[in-house]
Amino acid sequence: MNVTNTIPGYTHGTGAVSRSPVTLGDLDLMKKSVLFGDEDVKYLRLSHGVLKDQVEPILDVWYGFVGSNPHLLASFTDKNDGKPLGDYLGAVRKRFGQWILDTSRAEYDQHWLDYQHEIGLRHHRAKKNTTDAATSTALVPFRDLFLLIFPVTVTLKPFLAKRGHSAEEVDKMYAAWVKSCLLQVTLWSYPYLKDGDF
Ligand code: HEM
Repeated sequence: MNVTNTIPGYTHGTGAVSRSPVTLGDLDLMKKSVLFGDEDVKYLRLSHGVLKDQVEPILDVWYGFVGSNPHLLASFTDKNDGKPLGDYLGAVRKRFGQWILDTSRAEYDQHWLDYQHEIGLRHHRAKKNTTDAATSTALVPFRDLFLLIFPVTVTLKPFLAKRGHSAEEVDKMYAAWVKSCLLQVTLWSYPYLKDGDF
């Protein structure tokens, strides 16, 4: 989190975010399940320097992918006329850019864990649209949330390779990103699951 951050709706580290029902102890066990360790933290932080001035072109690729798939773009359309909501897309894009920086900064503490729960709620009908007062569809379908881990990470790889790191370092940064996205989307699944099943 950047304390001087003024991105609308970005509430990481503020009192507006409620506590995650998942504990840091649970997160430690999840890290073991996905083989996420100190080396991954190291390579995520290496990726921070690589990615921080490439955020906009990365977002262009990801938004291009969502925009060219009507079933994905649907989550950003008006629920009444089905037209894309430019303001909503633009507002979320700013927070998505910050998410690239937060993921690569890899300070996965209580504030981060709490904000993961918030991001899950914002994809789910519990809180979708509320941050930006959008008139969009009620829910991001879970199936797409999970499946997007592949396109999000595979399209990041060329950007990881753009600053002269060795193939081995690029592979390690990429693996750390895949694991982090798996951890995060798993955390985001909480509101989608039946009570007690997480
Ligand atoms: C690996 C998969 C995904 C990642 C990493 C991701 C990432 C993000 C991030 C970082 C945000 C902003 C969170 C914030 O408010 O700070 C966001 C919001 C959003 N994402 Fe995703 N997302 C993923 C999958 C999807 C999919 C598949 C869709 C649907 C096509 C989607 C639609 C949305 C929408 C509509 C919002 C705005 C929610 C709101 O109303 O607040 N996301 N996503």
